[in-house]
Amino acid sequence: MPDASLRELDTFVNDSLALIEGLASLEDLREAEASLTGRRSPLATWQRSLGALEPDERRSAGARLQEARRTLEEALARRGEALRDVARREKLDRDALALGDVVVDQVLWPLGVGRAGLVARTQRELEDVFVAMGFQVADGPEVESDWYNFEALNIPPAHPARGMWDTFYVDLGDPETVVLRTHTSPTQIHLMEAAVANASLPIHSVMPGRCYRRDTPDARHLATFHQIEGLVVDRAISFADLAGTIETFTRAYFGADIASRLRPAYFPFTEPSAEFEITCTICRGGGCRTCSGTGWIELGGCGMLDPAVLEAVGIDGDEWSGFAFGFGIDRCAQMRHQIADMRALIDNDVRFLRQV
Ligand code: PHE
Repeated sequence: MPDASLRELDTFVNDSLALIEGLASLEDLREAEASLTGRRSPLATWQRSLGALEPDERRSAGARLQEARRTLEEALARRGEALRDVARREKLDRDALALGDVVVDQVLWPLGVGRAGLVARTQRELEDVFVAMGFQVADGPEVESDWYNFEALNIPPAHPARGMWDTFYVDLGDPETVVLRTHTSPTQIHLMEAAVANASLPIHSVMPGRCYRRDTPDARHLATFHQIEGLVVDRAISFADLAGTIETFTRAYFGADIASRLRPAYFPFTEPSAEFEITCTICRGGGCRTCSGTGWIELGGCGMLDPAVLEAVGIDGDEWSGFAFGFGIDRCAQMRHQIADMRALIDNDVRFLRQV
């Protein structure tokens, strides 16, 4: 291969290396590959011209051509790798979604973030207050037999006290009457029966849950509502223990500026009995539509366990005494959050739900 041709080859290789370094896309790379090392490339032309040379010259020129080809092929491969790397990174950048995009825009919106409803949260807060006071939390059935809802609580059939509750009776064709419980008090009976069976007295428990009455909903009532029952059965329990428990609860849950009072009342299963009221938080005691102008809101009832109830479950009233209370969880939520009309709790109006 004449010197001139060799110089030409060197120049070609150097120019080609510069060109390869400057390639900006894989497409350009493929074109360059064809034009620099393909069948129509100068390399191929030189290769073909080797046949006209003397054997010695042909060998050395052939080796130079091989070396030039390898140099270019390696440079093309390196450049290709670099370009593919850039392309991969660009694709990753394009495909990557900010975490915020996915979570907020695609997944959670428009569903929104859910949370427990106000009544459920209030129930938990009330449980916390009582647990802090040393009570345990227990559960009871929402559907009861007549015996648990009434008779064991000292309300025999045809007793006028049955008129205190607008009961939903369930006709199962059963000789025993079944009711949707009108209060959480039947859970007292379940707990006392279990304590007798397991010889596990004393009892210090609260029992939250859903109750039903055939009531027409108004500002203070819902037909499906929630109560939290309290039951203490222990030795030498007095009315002072009951009053102190109610007062401690009121201060802990509503704050020291809300007063509570006990008013004499009647319940068949407690004796003496009282109604438990707090200052209406809507009007702060001044009188408003929610409290029917009285300035007080009744939260529930309470009293000392009637000996007839202890007897019904087989607890010795000479050894044991106790108190019970039961009050509305919805009512507590209403007073704590100053909800003028309790029906807002079941309207499911998101403008309301977002506030509480
Ligand atoms: N169960 C009664 C009611 O629903 C409240 C109550 C509970 C009264 C416990 C006395 C003792 O009205």
